[in-house]
Amino acid sequence: MAHTYIKELEKHDGHEVVLKGWLAQKRDSKAIVFLVLRDGTGFVQCIVDINTVGEEVFEMAKKLTQESSFTVTGTVRKDDKQFGGYEIQVTALTIYSLAVDYPITPKEHGTGFLMDNRHLWLRSKRQWAIMRVRNTIIYSIHKFFQERGFMQMDAPIFTGNASEGTTTLFETDFYGQPAYLSQSGQLYGEAMAFAQGLIYTFGPTFRAEQSKTRRHLSEFWMIEPEMAFYDLAMDMDLIEQFVQHVVGEVLDSCKIELKVLERDTKFLDRVKEPFIRMKYEVAVDHIQGLKAVDGKTSIQMLEDDLKNIQDEISSKQKDIEEREVKMASGALTKGEKNFNQNKIDQLKNDIKDLEEKATNIPQWLNSAKNFKRGEDFGGSDETVLTRMFGQPIMVYNWPREVKAFYMKEDETDLGYAKGVDLLAPEGYGEVVGGGERETDINKLIGKIEEHKLPMDVFEWYLDLRRYGNIPHSGFGLGLERLVAWICGLQHIRETIPFPRAFGGRLMP
Ligand code: 4AD
Ligand code: MG
Repeated sequence: MAHTYIKELEKHDGHEVVLKGWLAQKRDSKAIVFLVLRDGTGFVQCIVDINTVGEEVFEMAKKLTQESSFTVTGTVRKDDKQFGGYEIQVTALTIYSLAVDYPITPKEHGTGFLMDNRHLWLRSKRQWAIMRVRNTIIYSIHKFFQERGFMQMDAPIFTGNASEGTTTLFETDFYGQPAYLSQSGQLYGEAMAFAQGLIYTFGPTFRAEQSKTRRHLSEFWMIEPEMAFYDLAMDMDLIEQFVQHVVGEVLDSCKIELKVLERDTKFLDRVKEPFIRMKYEVAVDHIQGLKAVDGKTSIQMLEDDLKNIQDEISSKQKDIEEREVKMASGALTKGEKNFNQNKIDQLKNDIKDLEEKATNIPQWLNSAKNFKRGEDFGGSDETVLTRMFGQPIMVYNWPREVKAFYMKEDETDLGYAKGVDLLAPEGYGEVVGGGERETDINKLIGKIEEHKLPMDVFEWYLDLRRYGNIPHSGFGLGLERLVAWICGLQHIRETIPFPRAFGGRLMP
């Protein structure tokens, strides 16, 4: 009998199937063992009843340890209470391999330990859900562009130039010549757009970011469309449609995964509304507290947030104290004691999270108060700005000095570059950077000199302006930033199977 995948169980309701996988969890009593089997496509509870399977199979089921691999045969039964909606009444079971002392147990582990065991950690339910969402995002990105006639191109990884600043280059040796791992496929994408019209790259990119943050990786995947004959406004329209499409696909097809991640989708549901578009100078007014939204400035909003969090912490502390008094009184049954202890543990965890939030807010307030007009945004500035709207914001027309050399100067707004950053709400910040490209070859040459970049390695790029020069635009989406936001993750390291980051590891 061919085996079935958990994801397909609904097609087999009431029938016998064979499932193959690993043991995620086990509970047993005298006559019944409950096995949670995972097979990559999902998780399902399998009931092994001694009266159905007999003593031998029952003993085998009892022997199974966490992450042992096995096969079960059994009948599919609908049960809405179950994760995934089905369970299996087991009739037969065979073991592939018994796992001994699997290191990741149901108790809590530190992040360092989990990262050291990333090759195993990937099997746990949360990581399983994140990787499934990542895959859905990747698939929906290809669908979005392919359905609109964009051609995918592969940009080189070994490059001779820096497109995004010289401070984040990884240098390597290309047969005796210095070469850099690609920071971006954009310049090559521009060349291909002049050959194919609409293109997108989807590949690994590298940045030597010498600081530990929750949104930077050294190796990350970027999607970079480039469009001939697009101006900045068309670029922004495409960014909006693109992000709406991807978020919509995840909301539609990853319901189970988002539930595993306990993702509150309130803000994701609002992504279908038009994005806010705002010039850099207006965004600065908001960050500095010069402009209010719904009667509140950024500063007032953060101060209120801080007060609310502190109130919430005190009320949870009071709740803990009351429960502790009850527990000490000796009047509770064993069940009531357990119930209260669980509540107390949960409250303590909530308080830890709230305290972390509370320590961040003064930092944000500080950076908002001290923000210097003309500078690039830092993570805190983005958080402050997006906190005011709760919706994605496209900030455009940036001071030329803070953006890359290839950005087009706005002829109606001299000194400003036609660049755009898409900032995600809920503190996730920049997920997309892009803009219209400079077409004036003399301005480009001037910028290359100003950025102290070697002219000879850009000669080929300047050819694009010499032969059939056209207006064109594009953008880059950081895949892992998008995964982190959609999944609601605290840190970018969980968004990629084997992360590479400053101060991190190369193993596994
Ligand atoms: O804003 P960036 O540097 O833009 C470019 O590279 C352009 N060439 C894109 C283009 O117009 N074709 O990077 C684009 C995006 C950022 O918005 C962010 O999402 C992501 O790439 N990104 C990173 N993600 C993770 N770790 C890092 N160190 C990242 N640096 C950039
Ligand atoms: Mg950027």
